[in-house]
Amino acid sequence: MVDWKKPPRLFIPGPVKVDEEVLQQLARPTLSHRGAEYAQLHGETVDMLKKILFTDQNVFLSTSSASGIWEAAIRNCVDTDEVVLCTCCGAFSDKWAEVAASCARNVEALKVDWGSATTSEMIDEKLAAGKYAAVTIVYNETSTGLTNPVYQISEMMKDKYPDVLVFVDAVSAMVGLPLHFDDLGWDVTFASVQKAFAIPPGLAVAVVSDRALEKSKSVPGRGYYFDFQQFAKNAAKSQTPTTPNIPHIMALHHQCTKLLAEGMENVWQRHREMAEYVRTWALEKFDLFCEQKYASDTLTTVKNTRGINVAETIAAIQAKHNTIFGNGYGKLKEQTFRIAHMGDITLGDLEQLLGWIDDEIRQ
Ligand SMILES: Cc1ncc(COP(=O)(O)O)c(C=O)c1O
Repeated sequence: MVDWKKPPRLFIPGPVKVDEEVLQQLARPTLSHRGAEYAQLHGETVDMLKKILFTDQNVFLSTSSASGIWEAAIRNCVDTDEVVLCTCCGAFSDKWAEVAASCARNVEALKVDWGSATTSEMIDEKLAAGKYAAVTIVYNETSTGLTNPVYQISEMMKDKYPDVLVFVDAVSAMVGLPLHFDDLGWDVTFASVQKAFAIPPGLAVAVVSDRALEKSKSVPGRGYYFDFQQFAKNAAKSQTPTTPNIPHIMALHHQCTKLLAEGMENVWQRHREMAEYVRTWALEKFDLFCEQKYASDTLTTVKNTRGINVAETIAAIQAKHNTIFGNGYGKLKEQTFRIAHMGDITLGDLEQLLGWIDDEIRQ
């Protein structure tokens, strides 16, 4: 019987470890979501997010997980007679293509093998050969532990295809990896807060460009809950269209304050250091699943070269240390395992975890 009063220490790639002071934010008395106090909380949080994400454009707070914004980007910004190119390099990018198709849009997939990156040359070749309204890219593929070269892709897009909208899933990237939204020329990006923001699940942050917002005005069938026009109308009053997850926004305000005090360059550097520590261990004891040059700074997907029983190893560490790390995702379940190094996880936490894994694999 699981004792939920003694929750395990989490090293799965989301939800991740949450600090006590963040949990305390979730326990604060609530506010009226149409009152002045909420508007101040919302306005300050959005202003901080604009600094964190390097944008002067539209930041929306969505009481949903990030998957909602997969659907929102498509339903708001791609018309039914247009074609969206979905780049696919792992479980989550594959899923976004499925979501786009389920929104009755014309989808073309650009697939690479899991563990490989989607490069600007591949996208260029595809876009040169057809007419596309938008491209979807996953910044950091959480299944394979791979970071796509989104800065190079964005330069190419701005240079050669300035009219094609760029949608970027930054779910396991945002805050942990550089993200200069306006300079990159992106149109929609988003993340849920249970990743590098280090908050329990229940809220998503979305950034929408002015031109994407303008386009959405003419796209029919945007639906109700994720209509960007409604988000924008309410954002003008520092509100959300429907009742928001106020405790999470309090926690997000707290985390944004901390991130800005640390400085984003330092935050990214901290993630790089944790990643290098885990990668060095993984290369010594196992291997990386993806090509090393694309290995993510927010999680490592370790290739199970020793043929350990991943499920049993995770269970043993949970039993002895009340700590869990991630198994492989989907078809990679036993071929890989995943260790998160994002948010408020520390090098000290990782040292402990890797020591425990070492103890298990020595036996
Ligand atoms: C890259 C990526 N995209 C999308 C999702 C879905 O996010 P959510 O579960 O918050 O809807 C995840 C979840 O892990 C993810 O890692």
